[in-house]
Amino acid sequence: MSSEGVNSGRRRFLTTATSAVGVAGVVGVAVPFVGSWNPSAKAKAAGAPVKADISKLEPGQMVVVEWRGKPVYIVRRTEAMLAELPKLDSQLKDPQSEISQQPAYISGENRAIKPEVLVIEGLCTHLGCAPKYRPEVGPADLGADWMGGFFCPCHGSKFDLSGRVFAGVPASTNLVVPPYSYESDNVIVVGVDAEAA
Ligand code: FES
Repeated sequence: MSSEGVNSGRRRFLTTATSAVGVAGVVGVAVPFVGSWNPSAKAKAAGAPVKADISKLEPGQMVVVEWRGKPVYIVRRTEAMLAELPKLDSQLKDPQSEISQQPAYISGENRAIKPEVLVIEGLCTHLGCAPKYRPEVGPADLGADWMGGFFCPCHGSKFDLSGRVFAGVPASTNLVVPPYSYESDNVIVVGVDAEAA
């Protein structure tokens, strides 16, 4: 895709996300790229862990960090978002994350160490595009029953707000949860398991 295409696509996404914030009452969906604590390029190439400070991450907001050359999405989920997750199980291919797409300490509908903070790789499990964060409820393009999640613009795969894949889309598995741990309440270390931290 040309850079112009990427930019116009991003503008469209931001416009959509911004206009949806008022409807959903979410406190912002800006997608800053957290890079200040990233290690050197050499260390990153070797797969070094990456830290993310989430102290400024508002409910409903997402940030993106880069780990091993991959985008990792970090979303602070609201109580309302979490309440919807169990209701979606019947529409999903792997609602309890039984297929290995996450570390052993990640299970259930939340797919997170702390339910309110989702950490997933931002790569579609179909052919690797970056799914868009679409937290708004019932947008025109995704339908009235859309309760928020991730939408892949390449071939239309849909994932819920835990990265669980819906039935009837090209992707067959949930988005991957990388190994991660908490260094403190507000600092997540992507690439280091709790056991090894
Ligand atoms: S790469 Fe996401 S649907 Fe094909």
